[in-house]
Amino acid sequence: MHDDFIILFRTNSILAKNIKTKRKALVTGGAGYIGSHTCLELLEGGYDVVAVDNLSNSSKESLNRVQDITGKTLTFIQCDLLDKVQLGQIFAEHQPDTVIHFAGLKAVGESVVHPLDYYKNNVLGTATLLAVMVDNGIKNIVFSSSCTVYGAPKTLPISEDSPLGAVNPYGRTKLIIEQMLKDLQVSDPSWSISILRYFNPVGAHQSGQIGEDPRGTPTNLMPYMTQVAVGERKELSVFGGDYPTRDGTCVRDYIHVVDVAKGHLKALEKLSENPGVIIHNLGTGQGYSVLEIIHTFEASTGQKVPYRIVKRRLGDAAAVYADPRLAELELEWKPSLGLLRMCEDSWRWQLKNPKGYS
Ligand code: UD1
Repeated sequence: MHDDFIILFRTNSILAKNIKTKRKALVTGGAGYIGSHTCLELLEGGYDVVAVDNLSNSSKESLNRVQDITGKTLTFIQCDLLDKVQLGQIFAEHQPDTVIHFAGLKAVGESVVHPLDYYKNNVLGTATLLAVMVDNGIKNIVFSSSCTVYGAPKTLPISEDSPLGAVNPYGRTKLIIEQMLKDLQVSDPSWSISILRYFNPVGAHQSGQIGEDPRGTPTNLMPYMTQVAVGERKELSVFGGDYPTRDGTCVRDYIHVVDVAKGHLKALEKLSENPGVIIHNLGTGQGYSVLEIIHTFEASTGQKVPYRIVKRRLGDAAAVYADPRLAELELEWKPSLGLLRMCEDSWRWQLKNPKGYS
């Protein structure tokens, strides 16, 4: 009887262990643009997903579609990161193994006008999330940072050890959060933290079912351009034609959102080795000018984009592009989708969803 009990106990332990090997990721901002694409990749990669979002700048429909595309289910909970009590309940109930943290405000211009909203949502929201993680003994996180932390770069391409210095409140919140994460890991070295600095994510899932759905007038180039192409807006203003670049327009490192999403799974794999704090650029290393983007978009979609060169936008750097080699070396991550695909996929999403998710 006693032996039977031990065998049963061992079998159950092994079963429990096997069940536990299916990892559960809690994704803050999971309904947003990069968040929803990452939830999709997580589901495809065999993770259980708990998506948390306050829906202030996103739609739950994105996650319905993620489930349609994958044929898998995830858990969605509407919650604001500032609500520590609800967040605590979510952690207690769902017991995630890991956290991917996207939630936050992200419009540069808005951050200049409403800086306190940015410090509250982004910095305080993250501090609250981390406190709840501490309470629940979850000590690994992937944080969604941005190339904006490099400010106006002095040398190109930008490697992870380039000087930091954000030039607007949005960027400063990203820098403060990065610092907060580093301080936390110093205070408790058992934390494993991945900071991913994205360059310019564009494109959409190739199904055309999920994509970028900016509220109001888009401020970023790709969504503005696709809205012009679909006839929602009259023409694209190209901000500045007199930069010291090959055609006078700004150069950026555009990266397909699906490649960005896949980078998070690679980061999660790396975190399982308990590496401390790791920081990686997610970019392609290839810079394209605004005019090159317009012309590639026109060539790949057969759609004209009426545009006019206007004066420079305040705060734009002439050229920004990544040195992506560290991510390739340490995360074994390499972007696989080029500019043509970025344009085609953005266009497919826009055509299928001229009004976004609404
Ligand atoms: C901005 C943010 C960056 C964020 C990124 C996300 C800054 C200064 N910018 O980058 O933090 O990670 O969005 O995608 O921190 N352009 C036009 N016409 C338009 C819109 C844009 O010519 O209507 C030009 C811009 O001048 C720029 C390029 O297109 O040269 C890309 O602009 P945008 O998509 O806004 O991205 P960034 O400013 O590079």
